[in-house]
Amino acid sequence: MQIRALGYLGFESPRYEEWLTFGPEIFGLQIGDRDPDGTIQLRVDDRHRRLSIHPGEEDRLAYIGWELAGRAAFSEAVAELSHKGYAPHLGTAEECRQREVLGLARFQDPYGFTHEVYYGPTSTVGSFLPGKPMAGSFVGGVGGVGHVVLAVPEITPELEKFVTDVLGMELFVTAPDGRFSGGQFYRCNPRTHCLALIAVPGHKGVHHLEIESTHMDDVGRAWDLVQERELPITVTLGRHMSDTLISFYMRTPTGFDIEFGAGSQLLDDTFVQTTPSALETWGHKFVGDGWPPTVRPLTPEQHPTGKE
Ligand SMILES: [Fe+2]
Repeated sequence: MQIRALGYLGFESPRYEEWLTFGPEIFGLQIGDRDPDGTIQLRVDDRHRRLSIHPGEEDRLAYIGWELAGRAAFSEAVAELSHKGYAPHLGTAEECRQREVLGLARFQDPYGFTHEVYYGPTSTVGSFLPGKPMAGSFVGGVGGVGHVVLAVPEITPELEKFVTDVLGMELFVTAPDGRFSGGQFYRCNPRTHCLALIAVPGHKGVHHLEIESTHMDDVGRAWDLVQERELPITVTLGRHMSDTLISFYMRTPTGFDIEFGAGSQLLDDTFVQTTPSALETWGHKFVGDGWPPTVRPLTPEQHPTGKE
């Protein structure tokens, strides 16, 4: 299949209501419609929503939504998933209405993370209003919301095959020795990566989500604000060697980290894979207290691959 972008993500969280202030005040995310169950939708552009924070007993990633070009691409993707043994479940009319898409199919990867492919998202031109004044705007639109990083016990050949052969992504870079040794960063559009896998032996869960502004001042202002409010910073301002993005990371009320940055390069068909000799060009000092709490130890009953 040919995924066009990381389109939306859903999380569950006991502290979901904190996003009503956290999202707009720190980053400028817009609060969108509320679902009857209290779910909070957050927006970065004219799409109906990009992040959904659902009420739940445990902080966890509930689903990742991958955007396809349209109905034909969706039909082909569903057929491919079925053929390759991933048993996609077609979304009901109610689920499509809730996600504001025309069609979706849900399936699980080899470690049990839930993915959805969809097409036809609702978009209202000119409707985005940032949750606070911004110097620029969020990078979004057809390029998607940013990237998501998943921690898995081991990056197995089966998992790599799932990303490249089923999701159809291309390897952008492999992380050098260090905190993310051997991490695999994958691209699905001109943005440098939309999905990354890092190996954390014995653990599984969402590590961070990246969102991006078109203007560095938005990142600088957020950086000042989190320090003034003494919010939990996990990685200081800096630049990865693999990407021109300048960013910092902080812990969210739902336990995973958000990386907020600006200045990422876009790739074209002259792209070649290079091997960075270090993780960082400058900055990005780890000041957090270990892995985000959403990266949990595997339970004894979980299969070594994470499958039930
Ligand atoms: Fe990142």
